[in-house]
Amino acid sequence: MATLRVESIGGLRARVRAAREEGKSIGCVPTMGALHAGHAALIDRARGDCGFVVATLFVNPMQFNERADLERYPRSLEADLAVCRRRGVDVLFVPAETEMYPRRATTFVDVEGLTDVLCGAFRPGHFRGVTTVVMKLLHIVVPDRAYFGEKDYQQLAVIRRMVEDLNLPVEIVSAATVREPDGLALSSRNRNLTAEQRAAALALPRALQAARRAVAAGERNAAALRRAAQRWFDREPLLRLEYFEIVDPESLQQVERIAGPVRIAAAAWAGKTRLIDNVAAG
Ligand code: PAJ
Repeated sequence: MATLRVESIGGLRARVRAAREEGKSIGCVPTMGALHAGHAALIDRARGDCGFVVATLFVNPMQFNERADLERYPRSLEADLAVCRRRGVDVLFVPAETEMYPRRATTFVDVEGLTDVLCGAFRPGHFRGVTTVVMKLLHIVVPDRAYFGEKDYQQLAVIRRMVEDLNLPVEIVSAATVREPDGLALSSRNRNLTAEQRAAALALPRALQAARRAVAAGERNAAALRRAAQRWFDREPLLRLEYFEIVDPESLQQVERIAGPVRIAAAAWAGKTRLIDNVAAG
């Protein structure tokens, strides 16, 4: 069936209401577009679980720290529509900025604590933008399930916490990170990399995998893991490491001595492009 493109909140709500009246469960996959196989995996998951699948495409200005980064964000609406069609998305919701923010926003959702660490420490206001827009999307679509990738591990943890704290009647479903054959996590931002930066970017998944293996082999000292990781980046002048941290998978607080499951998360810059990745260990 063809994917319907809907731009208004009212139009979207009417479609969802009709699907509900037919007894269908509703799945929602929020995205910022430039869709790749990582997004497609979330869509496939939603398609398998739900009778009616809404994908949303909105490049949310509130979560960008810099105007230039927002402007550089890749956009490919026609190709995105084709992906949605192939994957059986029922509705692609593509609101204009004026539809989502008709007036200057004065109400925000802030998840404290979880957003002070990792990416939150380097991107002030970013997660407030994410949680506010996700809250709006959840209120617009009112899905039974919403789908998020482990690629953005902190985002997933923050959204889970928001849903729990505010008793939202939605099940958050997560999916594993989809990678290129050489290990680089798929990201819309990869399109902005030059060939040299693309090659250098491999240090990110490699350092994470090396740390995961070291933990599996018995390393318990987080500082030693961080030092070993730094060496991967010292060899890559095109990549600048922003953080490499070993954290508790739920609280996201730094762990110094590894005694159970942890998440190893890192961010690095290739020129003006910021890349993030993470793996489970322990
Ligand atoms: P975006 O970066 O477009 O990602 C949309 C969803 O796809 C997120 O849940 C993200 O974790 C997931 N995703 C991205 N790359 C992935 C990969 N390689 N493997 C698996 N899943 C992947 O994240 C956002 O948009 C925005 O912050 C949003 C939640 C839409 C709010 O604006």
